[in-house]
Amino acid sequence: DSIARVVSTGSLPGWNEVESLTSAAHERYLTLDDGEIADYIPVLAAVDPSLFGLSVIEVNGAAHDAGDSGHPFSIQSISKAFVYALVCEEYGHAGVKERVGVNNTGLPFNSVMALELNDGHPMNPMVNAGAIATTALIPGTSSAEQWEVIRTGLSAFAGRQLVMDGEVYASEMATNFRNKAIARLLESYGRIDADPLETVDIYTRQCALLVNAHDLAIMGATLADGGINPMTGQRVVSPEVCGDTLAMLAASGMYERSGEWLFEIGIPAKSGVAGGIVAIAPGKGAIGAFSPRLNSAGNSVRGQRAIAYLSRGLGLNLF
Ligand code: DON
Repeated sequence: DSIARVVSTGSLPGWNEVESLTSAAHERYLTLDDGEIADYIPVLAAVDPSLFGLSVIEVNGAAHDAGDSGHPFSIQSISKAFVYALVCEEYGHAGVKERVGVNNTGLPFNSVMALELNDGHPMNPMVNAGAIATTALIPGTSSAEQWEVIRTGLSAFAGRQLVMDGEVYASEMATNFRNKAIARLLESYGRIDADPLETVDIYTRQCALLVNAHDLAIMGATLADGGINPMTGQRVVSPEVCGDTLAMLAASGMYERSGEWLFEIGIPAKSGVAGGIVAIAPGKGAIGAFSPRLNSAGNSVRGQRAIAYLSRGLGLNLF
């Protein structure tokens, strides 16, 4: 794109400039129709591919929205980032590092081979194996209690009560043989203490939580703001946990394309197969994007392009 790379400076431009760049990013990529909708979760295949929403939330609470930023979709893998933060808050830096890992696999998010190549170690919290291992660490004496901790915790990040899409949950539970196999494989290597299939059930619920691009931007801005939700003022996690979570997103948030993402766009981000992306500019704010058509790694095509445009225009690149 024509806008030159701008390395991150101390603060965002003024309100008017952020507002007009958000609209410009939406307009610029509105007609782009590259990529394919995810259909391995049957109900996702029925989504309108033309939907496109963007939201920028500043750490001071200023909000900038464009297009379908209020349209609900399932959070999917983006939940991994926030469940990881909740688990880090509970277990601390060293414990989670040992149990879940911090290194990129270089393989697709649902790879079984990555587990086999690494003695059953899940490697990092952003691939399915690591996310399932992370969900297993959520405190609670029953899976219902663990699910409630996740739903409440992610709602605190969003600043409103999030609800699960029962249809997305049922559709995925009927077809997620690979995730069930991954959980059993973790069990066979002694890498998961909780019941593997109950853990997959909770993991599938967390992926079916409904959010919109505006919610994602608030959730991301909470991480950008050292753990304080800029809309509600509530402390959700500690600054240390935000640091650990953002490091994980930088390393693995965009899966096997994470290096390319960091090279081109330069801020931690997380994508989901329903078409959401959250990208976080530490100390400044976050961008939420939603557009259902994905590239071959499972990242939203228009979301990625719009965030690249905003990262350059707003001077967010950390490097
Ligand atoms: O476990 C799964 O396959 C889905 N619930 C989530 C995958 C996902 O979002 C990967 N994203 N790019």
